[in-house]
Amino acid sequence: MTVNYELLEKQLVALLSDETDLLALSANFVGLLHAEIPRISWLGIYVVRGDTLVLGPFQGLPACVRIPMGQGVCGTAAREAKTLRVDNVHAFEGHIACDPQSISEIVVPLRNRDEVFAVLDIDSPFEARFGRQDQQGVERLCGRFVQRLSDLRPDLTEFI
Ligand code: SME
Repeated sequence: MTVNYELLEKQLVALLSDETDLLALSANFVGLLHAEIPRISWLGIYVVRGDTLVLGPFQGLPACVRIPMGQGVCGTAAREAKTLRVDNVHAFEGHIACDPQSISEIVVPLRNRDEVFAVLDIDSPFEARFGRQDQQGVERLCGRFVQRLSDLRPDLTEFI
């Protein structure tokens, strides 16, 4: 079951164009992706607050609220400012287990002016759920989202 990321990108652009409130845009960004990406258990944003990632808008079960920068998959992706795709989180040293059902994960840093201000985290109960095509697609969607946020607030480094 592959995702039509091109179509999803068009839907996202339309959804984001209607509103200017960053919190509302973030909530709908998460809602759309969660509805359209199959075989996932959790999808949400962690925002950077100093040395910590703090839970933001998400869909799924209640999750860990604070993740120290550099720890877990989310904290590592944020610190290294690069997307991490993990086929089996149990093999990832320092993985933070919020949900024991989560097996694979993709985390995409959200950057403005070279500074990571948040990450998008997607978890799946299936091993190796996220392939290269998913990475490219999700990165494009995140790019659109960040573009809209930074158009609305050019000095964006911390948000919500
Ligand atoms: N597994 C993540 C923690 C966040 S949750 O899964 C929602 C990690 O290792 O960063």
